[in-house]
This record gives sequence, structure tokens and C-alpha cells, in this order.
Amino acid sequence: MIKPSLRAQSVQFMLFITGGAFLIWTLWSIYDTAQNHHRAQRVQNSYSSVRNDTLGFEKVFAINLPSRPDKKDNIILGSSVSGFRVDWIEGVDPGDISPKSFPYNWNHAHLLTEYARRRAHLNAIQRIIEKRLGSAVIMEDDTDWDILIKTQLQNFAVALGGLQGSLNAEPASPYGDNWDILWLGHCGVQCKAQDPSYLTQNDPTVPASRHFLPYLRDKPPIERPENGRLTCTARDIACGSFYAVSYRGAQKILAALSVSPLGLAEDIDIGGQIDVSLGRLCGHGYLQCYATYPAITGKYRAAGVAGKASDVHNGTGEAKGFATWGVMYSVMLNIQRIVTGDTAMRATWQDAPVPEISLSEVKSQEEEMARLREMTVYQGMLSYSANENRREEI
Ligand SMILES: *[C@@H]1O[C@H](CO)[C@@H](O)[C@H](O)[C@H]1NC(C)=O
Ligand SMILES: *[C@@H]1O[C@H](CO)[C@@H](O)[C@H](O)[C@H]1NC(C)=O
Repeated sequence: MIKPSLRAQSVQFMLFITGGAFLIWTLWSIYDTAQNHHRAQRVQNSYSSVRNDTLGFEKVFAINLPSRPDKKDNIILGSSVSGFRVDWIEGVDPGDISPKSFPYNWNHAHLLTEYARRRAHLNAIQRIIEKRLGSAVIMEDDTDWDILIKTQLQNFAVALGGLQGSLNAEPASPYGDNWDILWLGHCGVQCKAQDPSYLTQNDPTVPASRHFLPYLRDKPPIERPENGRLTCTARDIACGSFYAVSYRGAQKILAALSVSPLGLAEDIDIGGQIDVSLGRLCGHGYLQCYATYPAITGKYRAAGVAGKASDVHNGTGEAKGFATWGVMYSVMLNIQRIVTGDTAMRATWQDAPVPEISLSEVKSQEEEMARLREMTVYQGMLSYSANENRREEI
């Protein structure tokens, strides 16, 4: 009598254990799925903050000399039709520079206007620290950008999530939390070849390579389809006309380029123009820098005297017509159409794959891209690992 009852008891016990384990497993999977869903939702919401009034950064600063209200007009009107706001950093007039204020290692072979430019950028960086900003864009007032800039930046944020390994995390910034500088406007980048790159495919805003800005660096040695944009860890950069700096980055830059108590300057800064010096700090590994290739933003020159374009170098010669470089659907070239309610936006080049897009199409395209992003946030890692494989082949 004892034996079968014992067996029955142990069967009951086994059933109890198995059932309990199954219940726990089921509850855990439900919990885990819900958690994953919430996490994915939070990551999505974080990418949507890229579309806010300051492009997902805490501020957008533009540098402008009081003597150039014409360029201020461009940026104020352009940002108003693009849905973001800028704060101003006053450009530095070379006449106001005291010789006492130069860093001891400034290379005086450079123009005084180049120093004035460096100082204006450092004033923007000083402001980031002073106001305790998590991050801010610093742009020059001859920047042009694409009417799809917010969508471009969302794709860039996804790429950075892949490169920083924060796709599943919840970073405080939609661009991730492990960067010092993000280069969006430049005229040449060198990527760190040993680090992975991220390829954003089928981007309608990538100009054909024959229309690229004259880049001052060789193209990255990574395969890129004509309508693909690379995001990589930057080793060097030329012309920093539009970039973002994090709070951590701002502190490190001011330490190296101005305060420099520990001989950082001897080690890594050569007392050069702001873009050259920042590029050095990236290459040294002192700053963690990311960049896209091709650049996201470009440049605009209004029609008029040749010297109009730059406040650093005086152009000479005949008056010229307006011109824009580096963006497919230029805000500056389309601005009259936008303010008069025309919804047909023209590409900068007649031979573009899509020479004209309508603003309503842009809206639905953006919704579609947001939907796709929701589906592919995790798949984005694929191009990351595909690139890693390719890197091994190189
Ligand atoms: C935009 O989003 C960023 C990142 O979430 C945030 O720091 C910033 O304050 C937001 N800007 C505005 C104007 O809400
Ligand atoms: C450019 O021209 C302006 C106005 O004529 C002058 O004040 C300035 O010093 C010139 N800058 C350079 C770099 O030659």
C-alpha cells in the first residue's frame, strides 16, 4: 500500500514542480516581452525628440558677426521654415582681440581672422559649460541644410545607437551618451579604420558623388552605394561648419584649447584653426568623435560681391550669383517656394534621381520612414555587423 501512494505523491510533486516552473516561465516571458516593448517604445520616443525645436540637442547655436545681419536673415528664416530655433553667439571682430588673450601656442602664421573664428567657437563651447547644457549644435551662419534635416538626423541617431551599442539602452540623449563631437557639416573626414562604421541605405538626400563638396580628405575606404551615408568614428576632420558638442566634450575642449594647465596643448594641439585643432583632439583619442560621409549639412552663398561668402578669407574678383553646396533639397534654394505656399521642392541638381518632391510627399515619406524605423531599429544592427565583416576583409 505504501509504495503506490509514494509513487502517486512523487508524481503529484513532479507535476507541481513542473506546473510551477511553467507558470513562472510564462509570467516571466510576459513580463520580458512587455519590458522589451516598453524599452523599444522609449527608444522610439527618444528618436522622435530629434524632431523637436532644438533638433534633439539642448540648444542650437549659430555664430554671427554683428556686421553681417544678411547672414543672420538666412539662418533665422531657414530655421523658422524648418521647425527649429537658434540662439546666437556673437562672432569675434579681429579688431577687438587683445594680444594678451592668445593661447601661448597660437601659431601666428595664421590670419587674425582665423583666430577670431577659433575664439568665437570657443565662446560657444564656453556657453555650453556655463549653462550646463547636455549638448548643443554650433553652426556658422553660411550653413545650408536639407528640408529633410530632421529625418536625416533621426537616421543619424539610429546609426549612432548602433555604433555606441545603445540601441537597446535608454540614453539621456537620442544621439547616445558616449560622444564628445558629432560632425554633421565638414569638408573632409578621415574615419578610424579599425572601428566599425554604420551604413544608412536608400537615403534620398545623399547627393551623387560627382556633386560632392570639394572634400579635402580622401573618401573613407569603406564601400558605399551612391545613395548610402556612412557614419564612422572620426580621426580627422576639415572645416567644422556644423557640429554638436556634448557637455563632457565641451569641458575637454576648453581644457585643451584654452585653459591647458597640464601641457595638453603641447601633446595634441598645434595652435591651429578651430577645425584643425579639434580634428587633432579626435585623432589623438582625447575626444570621441563621430561623423557622416557625405556630410549632412552644406553651405550657401548669397548673390553679390565675391567677398560676401566668408568673414575669414576675403574673396576677390567679380560679383557672383548665389550658390549652394552639399545638400539635395536645399532650404536656401527652396525658401521662396516655401514662404509662398508652393509645395514643390526642387533638388539642387537637375540630374537628381528625384528632381522634385512635394512637401506633402515629404510628410508621408517621413511617416513611412518613422514606421520603417520602428520595424528596423533592431535590424539596423545588421548593417553594423555586415560592415564589421567587411572591415575584416579590408
Ligand atoms: C529636445 O530634445 C532634447 C533631447 O531629449 C532635449 O534635451 C531638449 O531640451 C529638447 N528641446 C526642446 C525645445 O524641448
Ligand atoms: C577683409 O576685408 C575687410 C573689409 O575690407 C577688412 O576689414 C579685413 O581686414 C579683410 N580681411 C582679411 C583677412 O584680409
